[in-house]
Amino acid sequence: MTRRSTNTAEAAVERQVTIALADDRASAMVADVREGLSRRQKELPPKYFYDERGSELFEKITRLPEYYLTRAERALLTSSAREIVEAFRPRTLVELGAGSAAKTRILLDAMRDAGCGEEYVPVDVSEDFLASTARRLRAEYPNLRVTPAVADIGSSLGLPERLPGPVLFAFLGSTIGNFDAPSARALLGRVRQVMRPFDRLLLGADLRKKRHVVEAAYNDARGVTAAFNRNMLRVLNRELGADFNVGSFRHRAFYSPERHRIEMHLVSSREQVVHIPGVGDVRLASGETIRTEISCKYDRPSVRRLLRAARLRLQDWIADDGRFALAIASPRL
Ligand code: AVJ
Repeated sequence: MTRRSTNTAEAAVERQVTIALADDRASAMVADVREGLSRRQKELPPKYFYDERGSELFEKITRLPEYYLTRAERALLTSSAREIVEAFRPRTLVELGAGSAAKTRILLDAMRDAGCGEEYVPVDVSEDFLASTARRLRAEYPNLRVTPAVADIGSSLGLPERLPGPVLFAFLGSTIGNFDAPSARALLGRVRQVMRPFDRLLLGADLRKKRHVVEAAYNDARGVTAAFNRNMLRVLNRELGADFNVGSFRHRAFYSPERHRIEMHLVSSREQVVHIPGVGDVRLASGETIRTEISCKYDRPSVRRLLRAARLRLQDWIADDGRFALAIASPRL
């Protein structure tokens, strides 16, 4: 094919794509995918794991014997929710990346028991998911105002104005770990910006620990994490019309002790070219990887530093025997 006809073909695809992808989500996705796959270490953002199937697979992960995070955090919340809530009597709970509201209920119950809870604001990228969460919670907590907010917390919080204060901002599950240091600072900075003096942030953080324990959590024996990882390619195939051959990618997750993080990759098992409308042809060498997620692990000093960089003060640190911690932060001037 001559250079000229390639360009014409590309232009035609571009036009079709522009028409077909009028939708915001799809065009944002094209931009993210184009940017991520043009890097030397190819990358895709972890937010694209979570279509309906991906959310179900993640729920399964939280119940795996190897995946200690969810159970560890739930245990900490169960034993400390009352104390946390009674310390400053929040009238609003804002939950970033709402997820399944299982852990949320622990906080909402404590707020109800303390007689202070009025409003719950779940923030999530997935609109469908939010709507069903809101419906369930309204039924379960008839005295609670539920105000879902659709937002990609990686770029903005999209919160309603004038929430009854004090507000408890909850960012659970160690989802903060998906963000590298600059992005994590920026995200917490956005939270800080809307916090008033009596508001608090409750942050869940997975702790640094023996390598084999963390690695097992991301390499479960049943292969659920592998299916979760590969599901991102199905999402791109469906949403963008890409032609990833899902079976030609293997799951790999490893802990980097220097960077204190898990990295999750998809390894191309052969040389291949993938076509992604709006992005173009993407070539992968045999053994080349696409990094789909980082999951940073913390200790008390690293959480303190991260909070400090976002003008937050580490006020309280509630940890178990070294698996997981809840940090409570207040705004500093
Ligand atoms: C939801 C981001 C906290 O990093 O542990 C689970 C996602 N990835 N297994 C994590 C995940 C692979 C999870 N977070």
